[in-house]
Amino acid sequence: MNTKELLKRRKMLMRMVGHKGVAIIPSAKSVPRNRDVDHIFRQDSDFLYLTGFEEPNALALLLPDKGGDQYILFCRERDVEQEIWNGYREGLEGAKKNYFANKAYAISQMDEILPRLLSDRERIFYPMGRDASFDSKVINWVKQSRGSYQAAKHTMHELRSLDYLLHDMRLYKSRSEVSLMRKAAKVSISAHQRAMQACKPGMHEYEVEAELLYEFKKAGCVPAYPSIVGGGSNACILHYIENSQMLNDGELLLIDAGAEYQGYASDITRTFPINGVFSKIQREVYELVLEAQIAAIRKVKPGNHWNDPHQEAVKVLTKGLVSLGLLKGKPAKLIRDEEYRQFYMHRTGHWLGLDVHDVGDYRFDEEWRLLEPGMTLTVEPGLYLARAKGVPKCFWNMGIRIEDDVLVTKDGNQVITEKLTRDPDEIETLMAATVH
Ligand code: GLY
Ligand code: MN
Ligand code: MN
Repeated sequence: MNTKELLKRRKMLMRMVGHKGVAIIPSAKSVPRNRDVDHIFRQDSDFLYLTGFEEPNALALLLPDKGGDQYILFCRERDVEQEIWNGYREGLEGAKKNYFANKAYAISQMDEILPRLLSDRERIFYPMGRDASFDSKVINWVKQSRGSYQAAKHTMHELRSLDYLLHDMRLYKSRSEVSLMRKAAKVSISAHQRAMQACKPGMHEYEVEAELLYEFKKAGCVPAYPSIVGGGSNACILHYIENSQMLNDGELLLIDAGAEYQGYASDITRTFPINGVFSKIQREVYELVLEAQIAAIRKVKPGNHWNDPHQEAVKVLTKGLVSLGLLKGKPAKLIRDEEYRQFYMHRTGHWLGLDVHDVGDYRFDEEWRLLEPGMTLTVEPGLYLARAKGVPKCFWNMGIRIEDDVLVTKDGNQVITEKLTRDPDEIETLMAATVH
């Protein structure tokens, strides 16, 4: 936990929230999975970004004030009985001592204490519209704060969404954030290499998934999202996560998997031949996707806008689809009419950070956002050639995507996942060097 950086983030947000304002940030809740079992807990990314506090059932309050900013943490109290069953709690002392809250209160007292704290605040920033029950809680606190102070004065409360301020901060990664993302990337690279080397015809997709999970867990990571391990036609299902089918000789395998390290995600896709050798037609389509990815990554640099890499990928893919005979006509018109969408139906990337599809606006009004140093994004073009009328049989069941994680730098970009090869010859060499 980078205590200094957490403090800096809270200070910066408080400056934006301003005197007479308050920011309220709830933790994630534990979510029941089935009888007596919860889903594995994952802290809310906004809450984690500002507090570093890993427990559920907590709430942070940032109260900027000329007389001294206040950071208040509501959390669970220590409880001997509960801790025997469910583990250690920081409690109120820990919140102050280890997480540097100026004050800490029991979460059970939240409804009682919060209205008082809001009573002299004019603007309330909170994650508006994300959780209906939290929205109504905030409204109730405001109502109560008015009730108890009505006689003295009438406070004008303005409710505002916190996302605009906080998510813009999260979009620009600090050096320490980038180093956590590099670590997540490194683990994902090992996982993909291991999966490529383990893969054999006749195995099941879940067996290959197990190889990925082994590398994640061994490095103290969790998957940043459910891994996609799709052989043959399954690779054409964009969000395929069943991973239940057998891998067939002669087909391709698409793996989209990334580790999460200390909350930070990586997101990598590679596509390779199940038997270790690309067929001529597989290689042709693969090389087209690779060309599109390389061209798109070249467009990631300060001053270019968010959509530049996508436009470049679409240009290369559409031209290539014409050369392959999969589209007929002039590329410029095919792009205008979005004909390429039959084979390339998603966008070329997204912001990456604490969330795999990270926060931050992609456009302001009608304008695409300009890329700036410190932003991190994925570049992930693909082609999905499912069995369909008009598609020659030799292309059927080929889903190819190549995805890397890219940091915008002062002079251009750095691909933080570049150590995982995308080159078809190198993939074949790596797969031939089977280790187990
Ligand atoms: N793994 C999710 C994505 O590529 O967007
Ligand atoms: Mn992605
Ligand atoms: Mn992905």
